[in-house]
Amino acid sequence: MIEQKGFTLWMTGLSGAGKTTIARIIEDELKARGLRIERLDGDVVRQSLTRDLGFTKEDRDKNIERVTFVAKLLSRNDVGVIACFISPYQSVRDMVRAETTNFIEVFVDAPLDTCIERDVKGMYAKAMAGEIANFTGISDPYEPPDNPEITVHTDQETPEESAASIIRYLEEQGFIPVEVGTAAVG
Ligand code: ADX
Repeated sequence: MIEQKGFTLWMTGLSGAGKTTIARIIEDELKARGLRIERLDGDVVRQSLTRDLGFTKEDRDKNIERVTFVAKLLSRNDVGVIACFISPYQSVRDMVRAETTNFIEVFVDAPLDTCIERDVKGMYAKAMAGEIANFTGISDPYEPPDNPEITVHTDQETPEESAASIIRYLEEQGFIPVEVGTAAVG
């Protein structure tokens, strides 16, 4: 069995910042290396584990609390967790940090204007038209991380570059084995 440590790679950022895109690249690469990885994504989790929840602060907090329980069990059993949630509140992200093993806060940073321009799901247009309430960045707050382990600027680098820098961090911290030949890429 390949030597790996459990970790909780926590991707926070605005809707459309690129959390899922980068997380998928990391997931594919680490699984191809034979590592045990589980990706938890707001868009998926909200259709199952937290489908009863909306987007008030109370519901967002509950969403993250439930996901944290899962991430805690996985990460303490040597699974690498990649979590993608807007998770707009610093206090809640600090709770995740305290509860999980080898927590890494990754700020997936893109200017709000860039996310609005991308509007991958057409939700910003709806939020600005008042058709979606409590929309992060438009009618609901987003607190950028105070002290993230990693920041990626998705308006200035490709998803592959962002993923490579995050994987390099995991290698440097000794959470995953260094892949000979690729450690310096990106
Ligand atoms: S979180 O705030 O509780 O962490 P989460 O990451 O699970 O949010 O879900 C965010 C996803 O829900 C967005 O990518 C978007 O597709 C969808 N969504 C629907 N309504 C909202 C809203 N009001 N604010 C933000 N995202 C929303």
